[in-house]
Amino acid sequence: MNYCSIADILHNNQAWVAQQQQVDPNYFEKLSTGQKPPYLYIGCSDSRLPLTRFTQTEPGEMFVHRNIANQVCLTDINFLSVLEYAIVHLHVQHVIVCGHYYCGGIQAAFEGTATGLVDTWVNPIRELYLQKKEEIDKLPSRQAKLNRLAELNVEVQVKNLYQTSIMRNALREECAPQVHGWVLDLYSGLIKDLKVSTEGWYFYPSCPAPHTLLLK
Ligand code: CO
Repeated sequence: MNYCSIADILHNNQAWVAQQQQVDPNYFEKLSTGQKPPYLYIGCSDSRLPLTRFTQTEPGEMFVHRNIANQVCLTDINFLSVLEYAIVHLHVQHVIVCGHYYCGGIQAAFEGTATGLVDTWVNPIRELYLQKKEEIDKLPSRQAKLNRLAELNVEVQVKNLYQTSIMRNALREECAPQVHGWVLDLYSGLIKDLKVSTEGWYFYPSCPAPHTLLLK
């Protein structure tokens, strides 16, 4: 593959800015006034999947958090602050957890080949594989196994979202965003909606809203 040089990248930036300004001279002035993105995208850091490019979304539409193998990690202060800001302050309407096939993190977890910090990071996926080993090992090819593990990983991350106090509070206050679990197939470029059911996570009738607690 032919990569852009640093000089190319800077040149491309100037060319793109000029092009945008031709269409709308106030484009960047408007961008600078603030953001109100409808989407929070949680995805893998993999260089091959800038979701904005795959979905033709514009600057200002997606608030983004990316890490290796798109983990919703309940002890990751970086992730949690992104989630809190997106839900409490930006009031995003949708949260998209988007995994992908041909994911190095999934592969490393499946094979147990990761080393160093990445090993620790992908260990929950390794655990997931061991939990679902019977289902996964039945699949006919290595790729089919990896693909299924990538899908199951998305389902777990969607479930994890509902374990955060941020989501629970939003649910109680009935301002929770809709959550979507997707995988992007790098081989076809297409996004598959896994239609992960989130219904079971919606109601906590026994839990009063936080403001009710404060009043007592
Ligand atoms: Co990946």
